[in-house]
Amino acid sequence: MPNRPPSRLFGSSSPDRDPRKGLARWVGDRLAQLSYAVLVEPTWLEVNRLRFALREGTETPFKVVQISDIHYHGRTPLAYMLHCVKSANAENADIIALTGDYIHAGGRHVDKVAEILGNLRAKSGVFAVLGNHDHAIRASWGLKFRRNLNVRVAQALTKQGIRVLHNELVVVEHEGRKFQISGVDDLWSRKCLPEVALAQLDPALPHIMLAHHPLTIHLIEGKRCDLMLSGHTHGGQIHSDRFGSITLSNKMKQYAAGLYTFGNQRLYVNKGVGYGWRIRYNRRPEIAVFEFVGPPAFPANSAQDTPAELPDTPVPT
Ligand SMILES: [Fe+2]
Repeated sequence: MPNRPPSRLFGSSSPDRDPRKGLARWVGDRLAQLSYAVLVEPTWLEVNRLRFALREGTETPFKVVQISDIHYHGRTPLAYMLHCVKSANAENADIIALTGDYIHAGGRHVDKVAEILGNLRAKSGVFAVLGNHDHAIRASWGLKFRRNLNVRVAQALTKQGIRVLHNELVVVEHEGRKFQISGVDDLWSRKCLPEVALAQLDPALPHIMLAHHPLTIHLIEGKRCDLMLSGHTHGGQIHSDRFGSITLSNKMKQYAAGLYTFGNQRLYVNKGVGYGWRIRYNRRPEIAVFEFVGPPAFPANSAQDTPAELPDTPVPT
């Protein structure tokens, strides 16, 4: 049998022009991206650090670590969760703020995630508010409540020494200075009552509010809130340079992730550490670390791509 060039064997006269070559490259690229999005990024934690003055002209050596949207379920890798706790504890924070969605669906994993979070350590305590998944399964198009699920979650966290804030405000003293920490229930829970939480607000003292849903910021217009810590969006989990956060509505794309300013109020939307569907792309899970020193200036109403502490390594799961 005479020797024939390989291209002839596969029916093409020029391998460089073979459209199947481009297709094969495209499929290979997509498979590599999908593998990365499913196997690597969902547990590739980044620590995002933000330094700014909580109030204009007032530098305050106060350190807050925020963890959000754990969505613990039966497939959440324990090694990853312990890595998150260890990373938060390594910051030696004054307070740790937990901003909801501890479980993903239903109550089976409430005690386990509370036990894990019970290992968090901060000088002036660990504070928490509940998210929509702690009240119900999910859905902005119709909440499906689970009776007393929120009570179970709150009790489990409290049992581990975590202070759960239900529409209330506490004053924390740190190095002779007072800070107000308030927390409201989730916006979708029908129990979100910021007017109750802020009834005792002292506008002269620094104030940090915990609220799972970022849109809660619009319920406190006119109130002094130096920083609201939120989550809920997961940053969209999948972010394309071309289309943005494709899983978020146009409205929520405006609050997808990062730091925003509204007059004298600031909002930080945390991308969260967990996931329901195990997939993240260009939206690595995060722990946010705030130190209230430095200038207060930020661009108005614009997300900042927060600097990541890179490189670190994905946690094997
Ligand atoms: Fe969430």
